[in-house]
Amino acid sequence: MTTSDSGHATPQVRWQARRIRIGDSDFPYYHGIDCADRMLDELATMGADLFVVVTDDTVLGLHGDRLLTGLRELAPVEVLSHPPGESMKSLTVLSEWLRRALAAGATRRSVVIGLGGGVPGNLAGVVAALLFRGVRLVHIPTTTTAAMDSVLSLKQAINSDIGKNHIGTYLAPHAVFTDVAMLATLPERELRSGLCEAAKNCLAIWPRALPTLRKVLAEGTLATPESLLWLLEESIAAKSRVTVDDTREQRGGLVLEYGHTVGHAVELADHRLRGAEGVTHGEAIAFGMLVAATISLARGWLSPADAEVHHEVVAALGAPVRLPEGVSVDDVLAVVRDDNKRGYLALAPDSLAFVLLRDLGSPAGDPQLPLVPVTLEEVRAALVEVQTRVLEPTGAAR
Ligand SMILES: NC(=O)c1ccc[n+]([C@@H]2O[C@H](COP(=O)([O-])OP(=O)(O)OC[C@H]3O[C@@H](n4cnc5c(N)ncnc54)[C@H](O)[C@@H]3O)[C@@H](O)[C@H]2O)c1
Repeated sequence: MTTSDSGHATPQVRWQARRIRIGDSDFPYYHGIDCADRMLDELATMGADLFVVVTDDTVLGLHGDRLLTGLRELAPVEVLSHPPGESMKSLTVLSEWLRRALAAGATRRSVVIGLGGGVPGNLAGVVAALLFRGVRLVHIPTTTTAAMDSVLSLKQAINSDIGKNHIGTYLAPHAVFTDVAMLATLPERELRSGLCEAAKNCLAIWPRALPTLRKVLAEGTLATPESLLWLLEESIAAKSRVTVDDTREQRGGLVLEYGHTVGHAVELADHRLRGAEGVTHGEAIAFGMLVAATISLARGWLSPADAEVHHEVVAALGAPVRLPEGVSVDDVLAVVRDDNKRGYLALAPDSLAFVLLRDLGSPAGDPQLPLVPVTLEEVRAALVEVQTRVLEPTGAAR
């Protein structure tokens, strides 16, 4: 559950604090526009003996100066910056960051700050969870994906050679600070990628936000600070609704995996082909939602109109409505079996656990375990169907 705390009276900063409750955990989420000074005021209250800042080189170059200058006035700072990209969520990088944090003198009073997108955010989460079995973690997300999705989760994970997010744990942040002004430097594609996850939450959990989302998408004003703040609030509300009683996202919170079964497989298959140039996480999830909606439609669950809303929103977000070039239906099917939702349901060998919608905002299955078995044949048929849909001249599928 989320409760609104305060709306501070500094109009240009529009500093807001909300409390996020996920199971037994409870932390403040502060957000505003151009609010670095307010963040530093809050960080000053933490009494840290060292700030370990996990970031990437792009974010460091764009947004590091002001923050690091302010932090250095509070305590020593160890900056752990890696090249951008998903491949950095590895045991090798994790091990090096732990070594560097300890060599810099980290103690139980140190604070790990994840500054950047979901990649440094997840690395920071695992570093904070492992150092002395858990030190304070602060997220300063700089992508829409991180601000609207990953920091609203206790899940902290890195990748194995076998698949995504296979190695990790749960840790609540001490606080989250989002300065929407930092999102302004995001390349359009990254910005929209995060908005795909926000759109996922609207489709699967919070359909009441859909009319405004569709309007803002149609007007092309989704990237304005005001729209981003609106969507941030809606994302917090949507995600909090399903995680309030499900710390581990292993029960009702599994609805957040909507689009992820095929989405993760597409992301992995494409990254094997193109590396960091491949589809973004959000784009892959958006495509995965099209496949999930197509399966629901074929089962007679989602109406054709609701399936159509999926295609409209995904196309308007500029996400792919086809598999990436060079990635075949068979490539996706070969990877999809490694999905990290294995083990939740007792399944036949040719089946996978899927989040499917019966209606917008209503997942199929037990509300405490919103997963249903889907055969690989159904996945194949839906992938083929999405691949062969006739496209509008705008690129939207119909
Ligand atoms: N824990 C969870 O529940 C959860 C949820 C969603 C996603 N994730 C994870 O998050 C990751 C994806 O997140 P992401 O898309 O933020 O990836 P990312 O951290 O790689 O950021 C994407 C790109 O944007 C750049 N960037 C970041 N902020 C910028 C800014 N303000 N201006 C310009 N460029 C900027 C980065 O340098 C990078 O190149 C995945 O690894 C995914 O597994 C985790």
